[in-house]
Amino acid sequence: MCGIVGLVGRGAVAPRLLGALRRLEYRGYDSAGIATLMGGEIRRRRAAGKVDRLAERIAAEPLAGETGIGHTRWATHGAPCEMNAHPIATDRVAVVHNGIIENHRELREELESAGEAFHSQTDTEVIAVLLTRHLRGGMTPAEAVMATLSRLQGALAVAILFTGHDGMLICARRGSPLAIGFGDGEMSVGSDALALGAFTDRIAYLEEGDWAVVTRDGAWIHDASGHRVSRAERRIPAMGDGVGKGGHAHYMHKEIFEQPAVVGATLHSMINPATRRIDLGRYGFDAAGLETVTILACGTSFHAGMVAKYWLESIAGLPVHCEIASEFRYRRPPLGRGALVIAISQSGETADTLAAMRYAKSRGARTVAVVNVAESTIAREADAVLPTLAGAEIGVASTKAFTTQLVVLACLAIAFGRARGELDCKAERALVAALADTPDLITEALAGDAHAGGVAALLAGARDVLYLGRGTAYPLALEGALKLKEVSYVHAEGYAAGEMKHGPIALVDKEVPIVMIAPPDELFEKTASNMYEVMARGGQAILISDREQTDRFANGVAASIAMPEAPAISTPILYSVPMQLLAYHAGTRRGTEVDQPRNLAKSVTVE
Ligand code: AGP
Repeated sequence: MCGIVGLVGRGAVAPRLLGALRRLEYRGYDSAGIATLMGGEIRRRRAAGKVDRLAERIAAEPLAGETGIGHTRWATHGAPCEMNAHPIATDRVAVVHNGIIENHRELREELESAGEAFHSQTDTEVIAVLLTRHLRGGMTPAEAVMATLSRLQGALAVAILFTGHDGMLICARRGSPLAIGFGDGEMSVGSDALALGAFTDRIAYLEEGDWAVVTRDGAWIHDASGHRVSRAERRIPAMGDGVGKGGHAHYMHKEIFEQPAVVGATLHSMINPATRRIDLGRYGFDAAGLETVTILACGTSFHAGMVAKYWLESIAGLPVHCEIASEFRYRRPPLGRGALVIAISQSGETADTLAAMRYAKSRGARTVAVVNVAESTIAREADAVLPTLAGAEIGVASTKAFTTQLVVLACLAIAFGRARGELDCKAERALVAALADTPDLITEALAGDAHAGGVAALLAGARDVLYLGRGTAYPLALEGALKLKEVSYVHAEGYAAGEMKHGPIALVDKEVPIVMIAPPDELFEKTASNMYEVMARGGQAILISDREQTDRFANGVAASIAMPEAPAISTPILYSVPMQLLAYHAGTRRGTEVDQPRNLAKSVTVE
């Protein structure tokens, strides 16, 4: 996912734009650039690689100017190199863009046939060339923007500079988020609140189709048809430079350790303190009349949905379909009456999840979004929103967002169970009380950080790793494998432990560590049998269970992690912690960029 930022300020904007780009690094990127306006002329600096490379370039060739735009690029069209880095410019404009122009090939052919020259492989360049042709034809910048937008298909958030128009930029959004920041004698635009937090704590999100002329005195916002509109201004937490690592070596480690606090905050946002019951009323949600639930998500959020499937079926007695959004959206399955669709997304901008939810809405389903970004597109389009209160998650690998998603989903299952008469008041209160202890249990599990770091050595040196689990530990096996893959680049697969004999056991030899996620529940002995099978073939078993079981198997396993005793409802949340720590420490042992793993973006806003 690319990041864009713009500033119409007082004094040199380039250093401040660099600071804002560093706040956007968490989105994942492979090149960066800044353009400024000075004396009516556009000047540009771009660099492949990290923002540090761009900063070096600007230190060597300073950029003056009080109006500027910046960009971190996650390559979709064209190699990650300086030539394709944004801002993309002509002699009249400079453009930064997040999204994909779906009809860029046809437009490029049309423009090349008309004699226009292109200098990059990007889809974005058609925006710059179209704007330039309209300007040459005598249009004003605003007219040129409207005319250009009318030709584009696909998702975009753009910020544009125009030669000869110092002190002004124009921005637009369609399908990719964009916000405007209100400062004191300066104005800014950005992809998210984090970027704008460098400049202000007052922002307004543009709506679909909006575009705005921004000067130091304000923003003139228009809807897609060109009518003036106003958008609600809101306060965001002042995020000076406090978005730091808080003494941790990496954001990922910091965010793993934030989980007791954010799991607690999310829990308490769902529980009515007076009644000690789950209170969905405040979210405008009525559980009556539910017949089926379909969960839509990708990646780690999909794994959260898989855990929720077990809960919703066992606690609420609801049939549940948990769907990978990128499959669901093209399969276009029928959705029965009384269908509830739950879209789970940390960013709230994942293209496949958004498209799948839009399809479900088109078929009449009620939609609820479980998101970490309350102003995100998925949140704005859902019928109801259940926010996770994880706070900004900078590390690309999702950790605290995952556990807070599980908290919301567990509360949803309990509330549905109560509403459908599957739980009486006493049972509901018992589950709520059990959940309420989860933050302290996570704190206990985090005390094993150094030990997990030692166990991770077995994974860091492996060629392949298997993760096995049963019941709600099966989605954790998938999640643990994903975490290891995406953070350490070690190949790993998660399986339902019962599946081992159906093929995967052929992989087992003394080179293959097998992480056995085995909470002491009714399935433990069956998982233990699988562990015996693995050890009998020389497999390196790593047992994750309570102290009683890790002591019991101490002689047979290669390593173990003893977890605090926990009620069943808390186990999937609690046992996520060793998954995260093992992946983190395996990544640091292998020297990977654990906060921004190669090829990954924080949110996949393109297909
Ligand atoms: C999680 O560690 C990954 N970064 C990725 O799988 C992520 O969960 C997925 O892209 C979905 O993102 P979302 O939750 O923002 O929709």
